[in-house]
Amino acid sequence: MGLSIVILAAGEGSRMKSAVPKVLHLLAGKPLLEHVVNTAQALKPLAIHVVFGSGGEVVKSQMAHLPVNWIEQKQRLGTGHALLQSLPYLQQTDRVLVLYGDVPLISLNTLTALLEATPKGGVGIVGANFADPTGLGRIIRDKSGNITGIVEHKDANEKQRCIQEIYTGILTAPVQRLNEWLPVLKNDNAQREYYLTDCIRLSVKNRCPVIAVLPGCVHEVEGVNNRQQLADLERYYQRQAADKIMASGATIMDPLRFDLRGNLEVGEDVTIDINVLLEGDVIIGANSYIGPNVVIRNSKIGEGVRIEANSLIDGAMIDNDSVVGPFARLRPGTECASKVRIGNFVEVKKAKIGINSKINHLSYIGDATIGQNVNIGAGTITCNYDGVNKHQTIIGDNVFIGSDTQLVAPVRIGYGATIGAGSTITRDAPAEKLTLSRAKQMIVEQWQRPQKKER
Ligand code: UD1
Ligand code: CA
Repeated sequence: MGLSIVILAAGEGSRMKSAVPKVLHLLAGKPLLEHVVNTAQALKPLAIHVVFGSGGEVVKSQMAHLPVNWIEQKQRLGTGHALLQSLPYLQQTDRVLVLYGDVPLISLNTLTALLEATPKGGVGIVGANFADPTGLGRIIRDKSGNITGIVEHKDANEKQRCIQEIYTGILTAPVQRLNEWLPVLKNDNAQREYYLTDCIRLSVKNRCPVIAVLPGCVHEVEGVNNRQQLADLERYYQRQAADKIMASGATIMDPLRFDLRGNLEVGEDVTIDINVLLEGDVIIGANSYIGPNVVIRNSKIGEGVRIEANSLIDGAMIDNDSVVGPFARLRPGTECASKVRIGNFVEVKKAKIGINSKINHLSYIGDATIGQNVNIGAGTITCNYDGVNKHQTIIGDNVFIGSDTQLVAPVRIGYGATIGAGSTITRDAPAEKLTLSRAKQMIVEQWQRPQKKER
């Protein structure tokens, strides 16, 4: 016995003007429904049920990884009818908490407060005060302030429409009572729907206490009906995320131009410049600087690192005191040891780069292991792909690769070797020797540049 959670998600979402079901639209890179499910999980309920509607098969298949029980509401006959569909699955639980799949940012704090404030065997709702309550259910109270019912906007009279205290749609109730109330709901109202809100009146009639709590912030109870509302909630979410990051000791140059789509861990005195996008799991060590327009995805950045403007860091590990960018692209499998320098227009993939090594300009390094104190000249390319297979380039410590070199893998460059500029290296180069491949330079004495004929 205990708590079960039902998430209503059978809405059509026509105002999104989208082929994608509303609850699959993304907020901070995560589907709306997944936000709600994750918050529900944090309450450790016995089970989470999602009521989905016609055409909701897409939701079910795309969200198959979520630990929820899917319940189909074949016809969309109202919130009361939606919750009724879940009753057969709730018989082993004391009470149920109802959430909406399109109200993504309800917080754990508010839900915990609701569950704690609701007396045993009673009903609890989350209310809010809206300056413009148009369209929403109004909370009706008697002279002593006790809740006596909820009236939908469309059924409300002039006087009731002046009430600014609204019902957010979030409710907790004893399952035993819902077994009595939900099957007897009537749809004799303006919308011909079975209203879950009619349970409040039934509750009062049955002398079952009803209480209301307020959310921590109104954005928590705002639903997403159109893309403007989605954008507003995205900004609210990002501001919250930025505040959390700043509280842990990072400077965010402009929280309005900060985007986190995943999880970020920062050390003290990290600085994040404008327009930075962080995706997946990102760790940034103390005293590191992330320049403007940088994208970092699933990467670990050490301490005292500088990622200069316009770089893309994806699936990389960058150790302490390294400098990357501007305009660098690190792809999955890149591992930079400490004090590495990766400069502009350098692409690195599946490569280990040793301490204090430099790849400063215009290079492609893929499937490679590079030792310490190596200098890779401008325009160096590892030719790692023969059209079928990928091959390794191994470069020892203290190597100097001259500019515009092609290293045709598989190939090894020995310790301390020097490669002359412009070389195409197809065989292993020995340690501590100069290796180069270069056509001999010649002078054509008689040659003349073609001239334009005068008319
Ligand atoms: C409902 C409340 C209203 C409250 C408002 C807050 C009722 C009767 N009214 O309004 O008091 O102020 O929410 O937003 O409950 N849904 C289903 N199946 C259905 C109908 C709805 O799953 O048959 C789901 C929707 O997907 C949505 C939620 O229930 O997530 C609310 O539905 P919506 O139509 O947006 O709310 P209203 O019924 O207008
Ligand atoms: Ca509605």
